[in-house]
Amino acid sequence: MIRVCRPEDLPPGEVVRVTDGVPAPVAVFNADGEFYAVDDTCTHQDASLADGWLEGRLIECPLHAASFDLRTGKPTCPPARQPLRTHRVTVADGYIQLHVTVGEPDHPALW
Ligand code: FES
Repeated sequence: MIRVCRPEDLPPGEVVRVTDGVPAPVAVFNADGEFYAVDDTCTHQDASLADGWLEGRLIECPLHAASFDLRTGKPTCPPARQPLRTHRVTVADGYIQLHVTVGEPDHPALW
């Protein structure tokens, strides 16, 4: 479990990129008041999703505009085909806490 930051430091629409203590960078989003965490690197090529555009619970990649559902990690449009790995997020003891998932994403590649 990794302490990310205090909830008030991650307001709706914002993202924090976690690199310490994780096997690969993780992006933690506040999407309309709910916290979600996914691998930060797009599954299409090498782009940071923390630099993308958050629209509701979808994150659009800044490089070629693939979009991913933060709830499942699934891409919702090409060019990305592989899902992102998702990670559990909790709030406890006054902090957002990241529980890193190890292993492959649950969902198969799309299209
Ligand atoms: S790098 Fe993300 S869509 Fe191409």
